Parts: sequence; C-alpha cells; structure tokens
Amino acid sequence: MATVQEKIQDLKKRQEKVKLGGGQKRIEKQHASGKLTARERIEKLLDPGSFVELDQFVRHRCTNFGMEKEEAPGEGVVTGYGTIDGRLVYVFAQDFTVVGGSLGEMHAAKIVKVQELAMKMGAPLIGLNDSGGARIQEAVDALSGYGKIFFRNTLASGVIPQISAIMGPCAGGAVYSPALTDFIFMVKNTSQMFITGPQVIKSVTAEEVTAEELGGAMTHNSVSGVAHFAAENDEDCLRQIRYLLSFLPSNNLEEPPVVDTGDDPNRMDESLNTLLPDNPNQPYNMKDVISRIVDNGEFYEVHAHYAQNIITCFARFDGQTVGIIANQPSVMAGCLDINASDKAARFIRFCDAFNIPLVNLVDVPGFLPGTGQEYGGIIRHGAKMLYAYSEATVPKVTVITRKAYGGSYLAMCSQDLGADQVLAWPTAEIAVMGPAGAANIIFRGDPDAKAKTEKYVEEFATPYKAAERGFVDMVIEPMETRPRIITALNMLATKRESRPAKKHGNIPL
Ligand code: HXC
Repeated sequence: MATVQEKIQDLKKRQEKVKLGGGQKRIEKQHASGKLTARERIEKLLDPGSFVELDQFVRHRCTNFGMEKEEAPGEGVVTGYGTIDGRLVYVFAQDFTVVGGSLGEMHAAKIVKVQELAMKMGAPLIGLNDSGGARIQEAVDALSGYGKIFFRNTLASGVIPQISAIMGPCAGGAVYSPALTDFIFMVKNTSQMFITGPQVIKSVTAEEVTAEELGGAMTHNSVSGVAHFAAENDEDCLRQIRYLLSFLPSNNLEEPPVVDTGDDPNRMDESLNTLLPDNPNQPYNMKDVISRIVDNGEFYEVHAHYAQNIITCFARFDGQTVGIIANQPSVMAGCLDINASDKAARFIRFCDAFNIPLVNLVDVPGFLPGTGQEYGGIIRHGAKMLYAYSEATVPKVTVITRKAYGGSYLAMCSQDLGADQVLAWPTAEIAVMGPAGAANIIFRGDPDAKAKTEKYVEEFATPYKAAERGFVDMVIEPMETRPRIITALNMLATKRESRPAKKHGNIPL
C-alpha cells in the first residue's frame, strides 16, 4: 500500500503531466507558429498568481478510432478562475497541443462548468479559443457538447460580459460559441474562423481561397464584421482583453467601475470652436472631437476597422464609463448604411444591457441611397438603430455637431427616441433633408429657387427650429461640450425608466 508521502508525490506527478499538455514537441510547434500555449495565455491574461485551475483530471470516455489509448491530458482545455485588476473572472483556454484542442463531451463539460460558475457569481467569462472544432472521433457527443455551450452562451447574454479570443484555427462548431458572445478578438496571422475551410469550399464550389483570406483576423475585422478587435500577437490580444474589461461592470446588476482619471470635469477646449470647417460639405475627423472631450483623450474603439462611417467606442467622462456612438464625416460623409446600422445597434444594446450610458455625436446627412443598400435590406438594418435606441433605458445624451437630416436624425437618438438631453452646437442643421435636396423638390422650376434655397438654409439649416419646439434642450458653444456632457450624465445618474413587461422584443434582424 502506498504511503502518504508516495500519494502526495503521485499527485504531483499527475499534475506535472497535465501541465505538459500534448508534450514538449507539440509545445515547441505551438511556439514556432508564433502562439503561446493555453497555460501561458492564462498566466498573461490574469493577475499574477491568481489562477485557480479546475478539473485538471477530467478525462474523455471515447473508445472510437483508438481514442481509448489517447490520454488527452486536461481534455484539451484549461479551465478555472482568477482575477483581472483584482476582479473575479472565469476563463477557459483550449490547448491545441492536445488533440488539436478539439472539443468532445468532457472538454465541453469543463467549459460548461465555468460558464455556470460565471453566471452564478456574476463574473465575466473569457474564452481563449484554439481548436480544430468538433472532435471527430466523438461524433454526436461532440455536437451535443457544442449545443450545451451555445445554450449557456445565450442564457448568459446580457447577464455577464462574455469575451472570446480567437488564437488559432477555429473551424466548424468552434466559431459559433464566440459568435454568441459579446466581443471577439482575433490575432493577426495566427487565427482564423470559418464554418467550412478552404478545402471543403474548393470541393463544393471550386472556389480557391487561402485560410487567411477566408477567415483571418483582418477579414473578420474589416470585411465581415464578425470580429470586433484585431491584435498584433497573443500578448497584445490578452492585454487588450484586460483593457476592455476595465470599462465594464462584472454583470448586469452592477455599475461599471469608476476610475480616478485626474481629468478636470470642467475642462473646456477652445480648439473645438474652430474644429469645424465653414463649408458644411467639407469633412472633418470626428475622432478629433472625441479625443478633446473624453477623459485624457483616451477611448477604445470597438469594430475600429469595420463600417468606419460610424465610430463606436468606450471612453470615460469624469471617470465614468460611457459608450460613444458617433458619425464619422470623413468616411462616406458619415452616411448610415447597412453595416454601420448593424455595428451601432449591437453596441447600443451591449451598453444598455450593462448599464453603460450612451453619448451620441451626430453629424449625419442621411441613409446611403442606392439599390445596393435597398436590396440589402437597409430598411430592416436601419430599423435596428431605431429599435436599439428606443429600447435602451440607460442615460442617453445626444450632441448634434452639424448635420442631422431626416430619418438619420431620428436614428442617431433624437429626443423622440428617448434622448434624455439633446445638446446642439450652433453649427447644427436639423432638418427633413439637406438644402440641395429640399430645393430640388419644393422649389423645382421656381424662378426664385436660388433665393428661396438661401432662405431655407438660413431658417432650417440651424438648431433653432428644433430648439423652438424643445427638441434641442440647449444650444452650446463647442468648447463647452465636455462639461455639459458631464453635468448631464451626473444629472441622469439616478435615471429610472421602465418598459412594458414582455417575454422579449422582436428586433428586426
Ligand atoms: C480530432 C483533431 C481535430 C478534430 C485537429 N485534430 N482537428 N482531432 N478532431 N476536429 C488533431 C490532428 O489530428 C492532430 O493530431 C492535431 O490535432 C493537430 O492538428 P494538425 O492538423 O496537425 O494541425 P494544423 O496543421 O495546424 O491544422 C489545424 C487544423 C486542422 C486546420 C485545425 O487540424 C483541421 O482542419 N482540423 C479539422 C477541422 C474540422 O473540420 N473540424 C470539424 C469541424 S465540424 P496529432 O496527433 O497528429 O497531433 C464541427 C461541427 C460542429 O465542428 C458543429 C456544431 C454546430
């Protein structure tokens, strides 16, 4: 019979074996391909020494195709909890060195356990994905495992922040759990996501495409919009996840953390008074406005590479997290289109779910016209913004810097869509449409068209018609924008607004 000391030694030996994952050779292969191992990733993600591993000795039950001889240390996924900036988080990191990080019944069970713990404790869940997808040998048990994870992803949506990092090839089922989470990070050059890979595509449609072109980080960050953030390498990705979490509450019942940023809430910025060009058709960079008004000029863009005609970002005002949605006049004149509407609506809903006030910076000439947009369903997609803003009960502050025409004026959170405070710069033009479009319709063929158009500009291309009706609460000097927003947010801190009870709404998808 083994002695106590021998039993302790045995435990240590078993732990060492699990820690080595798929073995030194495969670890070296992982490093050679520019990737960290699952354990190295967790170490870098969490506060030093805070990681507590669960389920080290979980083992699969598969006996198909020689799997009974495959030990699969840790079942190809490292799971547990720890802290980031002292706050509890749950984490799983798939271990590509063990059966390619593929997901079988027990691999899934380990993930499900941390999903359930994260829900119970109200703490964010971070998934570091690096997986060949469903473990082929495990057949329907693998599919069932994915199903269980998807189900819990959906239950957790809007309750805890769920963050996914794609840090290797992720095929088939491996992409849908991340797709159900709030944010997807991808690492440039070493990560891919696709439902079907290049070989399958070639055999079915004869189309030839590389894995990187098909589903690499920049494809999903700039073309498909599936991913929200692109990272240079594993370290950068893990650092960005920590940074993102600094803006977020741990769950939907908490407020976001307040940070002492040291920036004066009464700080005015005179350069804002000269930022806009005199010619209203000339572009300017809305990021120059954002950086002048938020704490220390610091903001973190979500979907920075996608639908750049609208900006969505997290920032702070007097230490308090806000979500900013801003038209970008220097890209497509800041028009709203299908992709911009999807991008903004999703961001608005995330912020609303997690008690993050919305600040909307408006300079929008309208929805992008054309058959491409109409056939693509701009009506349905644009309606998402109307829906998301109307549904949101967090404080909503709208600042109109310049154009706010027609439906896009409403879609950028006008007072009627529930803006609690609408501030307008004197350069604001709040009208049914721009002067040229209006003149073309109501003064067509009129010999006095030119004079009448000028009168239209004078009377309607201003904030004052809207202010006369109370649709604008205040017309302010641009330089005052920061203190005015902060005062409004402070006033709105106790906002309570309810909506009719329902099972759930039916946002146009
Ligand atoms: C079992 C797998 C596996 C899988 C990889 N491996 N994927 N084992 N099931 N799905 C194993 C390999 O046999 C190999 O084992 C090790 O992991 C590393 O894989 P390599 O191919 O050597 O690595 P690499 O060349 O880097 O290629 C990685 C890869 C490729 C692109 C991910 O392995 C691949 O194409 N895998 C299959 C992807 C796929 O089609 N998955 C199923 C999707 S269907 P050894 O012992 O040699 O180290 C699916 C349905 C779910 O997921 C749907 C739910 C909605």
